[in-house]
Amino acid sequence: MIRARRLRSSPAIRSLVEETQVTAHDLIYPLFFKEGNSEDINSMPGQKRLSINDLLQEIEDSLELGLRAFALFPVIPNEFKTWDAKEAINPDGLTQKTIRQIKRTFGNDVILITDVALDPYTSHGHDGLVHNGKILNDETVAMLAEMALVQAEAGADIVAPSDMMDHRIKAIRKALEEANHHDTLIMSYTAKYASCLYGPFREALASLGSGDCELRTDIPQDKKTYQMNPANAREALKELDLDIQEAADIVMVKPASWYSDIIYQFKQNTHLPVAAYQVSGEYSMIQAAAQLGYIDLSAAMKESLISIKRSGADLILSYFAKAYCQEL
Ligand code: PBG
Repeated sequence: MIRARRLRSSPAIRSLVEETQVTAHDLIYPLFFKEGNSEDINSMPGQKRLSINDLLQEIEDSLELGLRAFALFPVIPNEFKTWDAKEAINPDGLTQKTIRQIKRTFGNDVILITDVALDPYTSHGHDGLVHNGKILNDETVAMLAEMALVQAEAGADIVAPSDMMDHRIKAIRKALEEANHHDTLIMSYTAKYASCLYGPFREALASLGSGDCELRTDIPQDKKTYQMNPANAREALKELDLDIQEAADIVMVKPASWYSDIIYQFKQNTHLPVAAYQVSGEYSMIQAAAQLGYIDLSAAMKESLISIKRSGADLILSYFAKAYCQEL
């Protein structure tokens, strides 16, 4: 007789037939860093805008736990944010200086992933250049290619365009190849949705929609002309085809949990590694519910990560990366 419960009858049997595991090697830890002292991020309990010293310490602690990949997000002071985001391509800017320092300290033990998008550097908070109330595509792409190159020269292992401009992968790949950076990987934010779940992140960076960002009525108030409509799935496959053609190395779905159907479809439709980003809102919802006593933090953290892996993600970017490894 078939009894499905036989395979669940003891912890040993359950672990013998367990299909999915999340290990330190699957995880990428996103970190915010800034000049000056560390600060708590109110919208993301447990996460900080780290001083450079605290960032180095956090990386060292994480390496001891088996983590090795870090996604770097600079917090840029308002006085460096401009309409044209020119600080993004400064070879001695905060990100570039910090990459060099991390690589001097930890060498090739760390994999550094840098964000390629203009939003930390624009006074208006958009990922692209704005002209006459519109986000310019090709002008932005030219700048993103320069930005990725500056990051690669500083020592970034993986550049990760999160901007959703058309044909940025092609332009970045060309710039890297021409400068002999043949081994620099591109992890594309292939299907990045215009999601409410980025709210806490924008608060962390004082970006679009946060109280701190310059409020203008003559610019788009959201990112819907470049990030994808949450209602669309086939369009994600079109973006996937483009990124494969343009020689991305890793493709990403973002956010993760509410988009697990997209993760699953990516897995069926490419041989490339698939990454998924458990974004700030996914993290903060779990933290908030746990603080209210509605759910168990550790259990929710583990179940959320296993569900993303089970959906088909080979790699998961998560603010829980370190806390998860501490419990392994
Ligand atoms: C911006 C960027 C965003 C995130 C990563 N890169 C936010 C946005 O598009 O507004 C979100 C990450 C998160 O919410 O954790 N290029």
